[in-house]
Amino acid sequence: MLVLGIESSCDECAVSIVEDGRFIKSNVIATQIETHRPYNGVVPEIASRMHTEMIIDVVREAYSEAGLTSKDIDGIAVTSRPGLVGSLLVGLSFAKGYAYSLGLPWVGVDHIRAHLYAAHLEREIEYPYLGLLVSGGHTIICHVESFDNINVMGTTIDDACGEAFDKVAKHYNLGFPGGVAIDKLSKSGNPKAFNFPGPSLHKGDHRYDVSYSGIKTAVINQLDQFHNKGYEKSPENIAASFQKTAINILLKRLDRAVEDTGIKRVVAGGGVAANSYLRSEIAKRESWEIMFPPLRLCTDNGAMIAGIGYHYLKRGEVSGFDLKASARVPGFRKAYP
Ligand code: KG4
Ligand code: ZN
Repeated sequence: MLVLGIESSCDECAVSIVEDGRFIKSNVIATQIETHRPYNGVVPEIASRMHTEMIIDVVREAYSEAGLTSKDIDGIAVTSRPGLVGSLLVGLSFAKGYAYSLGLPWVGVDHIRAHLYAAHLEREIEYPYLGLLVSGGHTIICHVESFDNINVMGTTIDDACGEAFDKVAKHYNLGFPGGVAIDKLSKSGNPKAFNFPGPSLHKGDHRYDVSYSGIKTAVINQLDQFHNKGYEKSPENIAASFQKTAINILLKRLDRAVEDTGIKRVVAGGGVAANSYLRSEIAKRESWEIMFPPLRLCTDNGAMIAGIGYHYLKRGEVSGFDLKASARVPGFRKAYP
């Protein structure tokens, strides 16, 4: 079964064709990074306008890269939530019209579940496992029993991990996108230059929760307070010290989740899963079975949408034309049962 996957939730206009939820036939990602760079952040109005201009060409390129035509496609999957509503609407409206005109089944999928599914592309992963989902808008540690059975164990009580990378980078003008810039700068920085604080949230319901507003404030507003004398206050040192603390916040909760559940299979997904420090630190846990998507599938892409969409379509689950784009997932913890 060949599924065309469409992703337009933020600033990547991405279309991919995936066979049987696993094999990537094409994966085209038209990024808008250069356009948003002068603003050091994604400008929603510009993003949605660019999606409108790009989407048809990106679909055409996905067919051409796969050596296929619309006649070969069995169904369409599209991100319907969460994300920037104006951006989501472009992909969703396109998918509705396209599916209608071709007479194909289509399904709207959740971007967060799709990020976790990205690691399943091109290989088989057995359930259950612990999921670490870290993106610009979400930070989730979860127990995953199947592609649509995700039990949230911990999440952020304020900012997302990627959001903290982006805000620190923006404040110190380190580059855009912030996570990529900080990761790169950190390689020539000293993580001992600053002792930024991590949150202490480990009681009761918060055992696996994270918080990033404290470290963000510390890095932006209290730099001197956490500075270790003798080290330079350079962008590289700020980046390396921040990155170490930000990633260790995740690892501490993940270690706890592995210890409590006894599950040592860990699957990561989302933009921050591209982080080199996270990848190298996790790799040190030698008794774990660790699966990260390749870098191009960590950030937003259509393959993860087509991949997870296949499983819904295969069991006959399709969306109605009244499906709306939604910016947020309401009742977050309960929304991923
Ligand atoms: O998954 P994604 O592309 O979009 C969302 O669904 O949010 O994630 C984007 C986030 C941004 O916050 C970006 O700064 C971060 O992922 N990111 C990284 C790295 N590459 C992207 N964060 C840390 N290290 C990286 N190498
Ligand atoms: Zn994403």
